[in-house]
Amino acid sequence: MIRVFAPGVVKLFGEHAVVYGKPAIAVAVDKGVEVSCERGDRTVVRTGKAYVDIEYERGTGATHARGHEAFLSYVASALRRAEEAFGRLTAVFEIRGDFPPSVGAATSASVSVGLLKAYSACLGVDVGATELAKLAHGVELEVQGAASPMDTAVSAIGGMLRIEPNPFSYRRIDSAVGEFVLAILPRRGLTKDIVADVRALRSRRRSVDAVIEAIGRVVDEAEGCLASNDLACVGELMEINNWLLGALGVVGHEVVAMLRYLKPYIFGGKISGAGRGGIVVLLPKRRGELREALAAMEVPSVEVAVDRNGARVI
Ligand code: PMV
Repeated sequence: MIRVFAPGVVKLFGEHAVVYGKPAIAVAVDKGVEVSCERGDRTVVRTGKAYVDIEYERGTGATHARGHEAFLSYVASALRRAEEAFGRLTAVFEIRGDFPPSVGAATSASVSVGLLKAYSACLGVDVGATELAKLAHGVELEVQGAASPMDTAVSAIGGMLRIEPNPFSYRRIDSAVGEFVLAILPRRGLTKDIVADVRALRSRRRSVDAVIEAIGRVVDEAEGCLASNDLACVGELMEINNWLLGALGVVGHEVVAMLRYLKPYIFGGKISGAGRGGIVVLLPKRRGELREALAAMEVPSVEVAVDRNGARVI
């Protein structure tokens, strides 16, 4: 049996603006998705953790799903692309995730990356990180309609990356800023709908271009602060980025209230991903007190560290 880990992705700066060609900074983390692959005479994909309960038989198309049927479109697309790229394989795949889907931890990207990597490894093919990123981005584009290459690239490659979306390129940011706390709030809406709302706002109001431009400037400045390990600067820019995302209509009042309350314990924080709830990434200053404050608020949270290696056989 082959086991693969595909890291989750935390968006540190630049989400949404990256859809319009601006750079973004995201980091692969040590929580994500594990995919196992065992060759057999039929292809079955199982996942039972993290709010999803699904069994999918590829040959007959039979599905038994409760809770998150949309998840299946990623699985089906990843398997089809894997077959095109690496050849035919029948196998049983088991997917286990550390995060609930659709909270902004790139679960769909990690699932696509993890499945493609497990499929190739099961066939004895060592797919390179860049090709893996490209194949997985194809899955996201097919299922979501529009998706930047950010999540799939960071999960495949690992580390902290500055992403240029058009044409796609990346560079590693060598930073000692490597530990974050993720507060997980209920998410209202799917990424593709939230992205569509921002697109509609942008086409109604020309001034939105200035907000997107400003997010791009924050990303440039943040790259310098990350590289010089300046926590105060990184935290302050996270806050600025969050207010700019608020101007795009994707930051709820509960996030603003939570960040205000947690202020003494963090350098800064912001939504991570499409927004409207979901993951809020916090840069901890007083970790113990932050933990206590989150527990007192009954907000589920998880502590993560940078994963430097990207998707791999474990
Ligand atoms: O919420 P997530 O993890 O699906 O992230 C979405 C990030 C966006 O920038 C809003 C969209 C994208 O394709 O990059």
